[in-house]
Amino acid sequence: MASSLHFRLLSSLLLLLLTSLSDAKSTHTFRPNALVLPISKDASTLQYLTSINQRTPLISINVVLDLGGQSLWVDCQKGYNSSSYRHVRCHSSQCYSAPKPSCKKKTCTVIIDNTITHTATTGILGKDVVSIQSTDGSNPGRVVTVPHFLFTCAPTFLLKGLASGAKGMAGLGRTRISLPSQFAADFSFQKKFAICLSGSTSTLYNAKGVLFFGDGPYKFLPYMDVSTNLIYTKLYKNPFSTTSSEYFIGVKSIKVNEQVVLLNTSLLSINKKNGYGGTKISTVTPYTVMESSIYKAVTQAFIKVVTSMNITRVDAVSPFGICFSSKNVGSTRVGPAVPAIDLVLQNETVYWRIFGANSLVQVSNDVLCLGFLDGGSKPKTSIVIGGHQLEDNLLQFDLAKSKLAFSSSLLFRQTTCANFNFTSSV
Ligand SMILES: *[C@@H]1O[C@H](CO)[C@@H](O)[C@H](O)[C@H]1NC(C)=O
Ligand SMILES: *[C@@H]1O[C@H](CO)[C@@H](O)[C@H](O)[C@H]1NC(C)=O
Ligand SMILES: *[C@@H]1O[C@H](CO)[C@@H](O)[C@H](O)[C@H]1NC(C)=O
Ligand SMILES: *[C@@H]1O[C@H](CO)[C@@H](O)[C@H](O)[C@H]1NC(C)=O
Ligand SMILES: *[C@@H]1O[C@H](CO)[C@@H](O)[C@H](O)[C@H]1NC(C)=O
Repeated sequence: MASSLHFRLLSSLLLLLLTSLSDAKSTHTFRPNALVLPISKDASTLQYLTSINQRTPLISINVVLDLGGQSLWVDCQKGYNSSSYRHVRCHSSQCYSAPKPSCKKKTCTVIIDNTITHTATTGILGKDVVSIQSTDGSNPGRVVTVPHFLFTCAPTFLLKGLASGAKGMAGLGRTRISLPSQFAADFSFQKKFAICLSGSTSTLYNAKGVLFFGDGPYKFLPYMDVSTNLIYTKLYKNPFSTTSSEYFIGVKSIKVNEQVVLLNTSLLSINKKNGYGGTKISTVTPYTVMESSIYKAVTQAFIKVVTSMNITRVDAVSPFGICFSSKNVGSTRVGPAVPAIDLVLQNETVYWRIFGANSLVQVSNDVLCLGFLDGGSKPKTSIVIGGHQLEDNLLQFDLAKSKLAFSSSLLFRQTTCANFNFTSSV
């Protein structure tokens, strides 16, 4: 009896020792291949938000996602309490890693932009603890910590225009201090990230989209890896600004119902001399905005085809210019049965196809509106692809290779961006 108790005690002690040893070892050497954050959509502003754990003690803060944004910026004026916060010193390598840094009283300052209201101000570059969940592509896993995550400190007034409760913005742009660049450097994984936005604004049903840092797999229930079978195109920098961190793609023509729409293609290409053109992808623009003549040509082509399908126009509902009765509109796996709109990229065989679920917006039981807006006659960027057109499409940005990989509508694959399993596996 006594010896068996002795043995059991000994073996459990041994087990305890072994587990604590392996724990100590893995916390030291654990290198995640990818990280994951949830993305929700705010019903009143149509902004996409994520939540980040920052500071000591750690708190969760909601920030608006900005695909082209330069950095993480948060309000430090009100309620910023952290024992681990530090300023970034002037003339340090961290200071020089920010775009256009300058020095004020020995601290490194940068320009911070609220890209929703287009308000900019000067802020301090700081660093603090950020912790985030790793992922194997299927579920969130162990939490990993970055002790000195760079971000910019904004005054409270800069929050104006952001969704209620948001404390800043999370920039995913082409800078060395954006979230994807820092995480890739901190954990030595590939400089890639992917967004998958969900259109659901319901707070009852937890239908969140997802942001991955690092390479795939990216698995959506029923555990399908959507990082395969992607379409590739080149990413461009904003041609008109050397400091912009936004993402542009090369749209060469537009088709409606597989027919080329006649339009002034000089507006699609980039006209460096005149300072206009190009196509940008944005998460802070709710609906795709097109230069006036492009908007007119595309919408006229669309109206012509749907009219032949006996779909009737009804009074427009703001902010949209073109709406239809949903009577006579069939339904498909990829949304209302309407002609596809294709953004043709480097050649005829590579295009971004926009189906009914992404081209139309249901504004009431019986009215569907075309989810594109008229951007006026002289916008700097001819086409800004907005959130509604990105939803339920996976977009992977490869910063090292300057390539965009996109899935087209996941509805075709019988899944959605809200199907990542956020139940932790640990
Ligand atoms: C910040 O910390 C101070 C001192 O610990 C405390 O008095 C104050 O209530 C805290 N403020 C917030 C917003 O947590
Ligand atoms: C195309 O658009 C550009 C910029 O607005 C304009 O200068 C040019 O004249 C247009 N070309 C045609 C054929 O309309
Ligand atoms: C449209 O309506 C007309 C008259 O009701 C009908 O003859 C025609 O077949 C319809 N066309 C389609 C495509 O449904
Ligand atoms: C179109 O572009 C893709 C990717 O850049 C390339 O693989 C393909 O060969 C091109 N097709 C044609 C017909 O040029
Ligand atoms: C989600 O992941 C959890 C944890 O691995 C698992 O228990 C659960 O069955 C998964 N849910 C579905 C619907 O597969």
